[in-house]
Amino acid sequence: MMPRLLALTVVAGMLLTTPAIAQTTFTPREESPEEFAAGKGRDETFYACTACHGFRLVAQQGLTRAQWEDSIALMVRRHNMPPLDDKNRETVLNYLEAAYPPRAPVGRRDWVNPFAK
Ligand code: HEC
Repeated sequence: MMPRLLALTVVAGMLLTTPAIAQTTFTPREESPEEFAAGKGRDETFYACTACHGFRLVAQQGLTRAQWEDSIALMVRRHNMPPLDDKNRETVLNYLEAAYPPRAPVGRRDWVNPFAK
């Protein structure tokens, strides 16, 4: 009787702790605009993008303005993001362009930009 009860307790314990493990994955509340590159329009951009996913996903990209425009267009087209009005679009693009421009991959010191001669 006793060992079986113990086994049940262990299994129940594992089931109960599983959600705690799942919580280490992203939830929007874990991030705040202050964690990201300072700049005009940061808060607007943060809140425009984190309605759906973490801002880290955005901040880990390094894109040209045109690529950021494509990226936002893709959010609208494919993921039903409500289109930004002209003023907000400008604010968001200005911020993204200034804060997250194209860059060499982190940790690859031997990386050479093939477009730079
Ligand atoms: C309406 C929902 C929504 C909004 C708002 C939104 N996105 Fe996304 N975005 C998604 C989804 C869904 C994915 C793909 C799933 C994932 O990777 O989480 C994604 C993925 C991405 C990716 C990764 C794409 C890739 O190729 O890996 C980038 C970059 C991105 N979004 C940028 C932005 C930026 C910048 C904003 C704010 C201006 C934004 N998103 C706002 C839904 C949204």
